[in-house]
Amino acid sequence: MAGVVVVGAQWGDEGKGRITDYLARKADVVVRYQGGNNAGHTVEVESKRYKLHLVPSGILHPGTACIIGNGVVIDPLGLIEELDYLHQSGIDTSALRISDRAHIIMPYHVLLDDLAEKRKGAYELGTTRRGIGPAYIDKAERMGIRMCDLMDPQLFEEKLEQNLEAKNYLLEKVYGVKGFEKEPLLESYLKAAEKIKPMVCDTTVIIYEAARAGKNILYEGAQGTLLDVDLGTYPYVTSSHPIAGGVCIGAGVGPTLIDSVVGVVKAYTTRVGKGPFPTELFDSIGDYIREKGYEYGTTTGRPRRCGWLDAVILRFAVRVNGLSHIAITKLDTLGGLEKIKICTAYEYRGQILKEFPASLNVLAECTPVYEEFPGWPEDISGADSYDELPESLRNYVQRIRELTGAEISFVSVGPAREQGYELVKLF
Ligand code: GDP
Ligand code: IMO
Ligand code: MG
Repeated sequence: MAGVVVVGAQWGDEGKGRITDYLARKADVVVRYQGGNNAGHTVEVESKRYKLHLVPSGILHPGTACIIGNGVVIDPLGLIEELDYLHQSGIDTSALRISDRAHIIMPYHVLLDDLAEKRKGAYELGTTRRGIGPAYIDKAERMGIRMCDLMDPQLFEEKLEQNLEAKNYLLEKVYGVKGFEKEPLLESYLKAAEKIKPMVCDTTVIIYEAARAGKNILYEGAQGTLLDVDLGTYPYVTSSHPIAGGVCIGAGVGPTLIDSVVGVVKAYTTRVGKGPFPTELFDSIGDYIREKGYEYGTTTGRPRRCGWLDAVILRFAVRVNGLSHIAITKLDTLGGLEKIKICTAYEYRGQILKEFPASLNVLAECTPVYEEFPGWPEDISGADSYDELPESLRNYVQRIRELTGAEISFVSVGPAREQGYELVKLF
């Protein structure tokens, strides 16, 4: 039996979907534990590219049970759309189960996300505008509607009425826009509920029973460490807990059932949305990485900001997630560059900072201290084993191992299933 967690070590889009898909071939259960359809996980299988937002990336392995846990916020209409897309692609989703405790995203959450962003003006966070923040606000406010409520038409209607009273007041009196009418919402959500119903259950039972039966359970994080609402670059974060600690709450599982935590590290750094980013590149190298790595958001299509790898961030990720392993992705993207850099510390007002600061004002003034490495050729395909990859690439990987102290379990040199090297078996 093993419980393995996959988390993003940076600002999201590290390739968690790709790594989850790889590990899922030996997993019995794959669980999403937080976030919602703000996530965009791309998985390539036999030249076909699948974009997943809510459904765990394990779904591409027939027979693997997939769970959307209680910590996820679910847009029911978005979920149905994603399931339709998977069915059209010939993917069987009959093994998907959804927590009856998960909160649902309503259209007023999506509208409030958009209005709040606009109202913030220069202080906007650059959210995905999927209603994620407002849905988690309602959860903490104890106003949220859960899957089990949606499954009960009368209760859902009561909760909807209660919510519309509060939301319409806010929309009309504060934002000066038209509120929502109950009937059309009730109709479309109860229709969606009928479709989702067979999948809704107490998913904690499935996970616990699987663990007791000695099965392999994989937990798939969304977003990344620096987008965690507690440990990330607050306020430029999401509203959930992507870090490994989020698994216990968002899947309803105890820490004794987790054996290893893999941090997915992109070979450089990217970020979508606002907020300071010390190693950001504004030059032609940044453009090279963006184009070669196709760094455009899976969910929103926005260009991702690109920069050098930041080991200060990685050490922070190792600490707050308890990373036992690191999976490095997109090393091929850096191919063809003459010199490659890793930031090992920050310089702040004449001082050297070794640890990632909490204050964004401090972070915004940090300049990276770099180590420089020779690059490797543009084309690194065709190596049968990790040892056949260019020496300069292996030295870069080795340096990441030294700087973080975490063991490198996987090295990825392309988006496809076979374009990677497993150095440590976690299952
Ligand atoms: P996630 O949100 O962490 O799952 O990452 P995304 O799917 O948003 O972004 C990662 C992108 O990089 C996807 O398009 C993947 O197909 C792609 N990818 C993953 N690993 C590699 C790799 O090693 N090389 C290349 N070139 N692309 C990769
Ligand atoms: P995956 O799982 C990268 C970012 C948004 C914004 C901030 C808050 O694909 O790695 P939100 O809509 O969550 O309230 O937006 O978080 N963000 C992501 N960035 N990858 C993601 O998911 C993200 N999900 C949210 O861009 O800066
Ligand atoms: Mg993504």
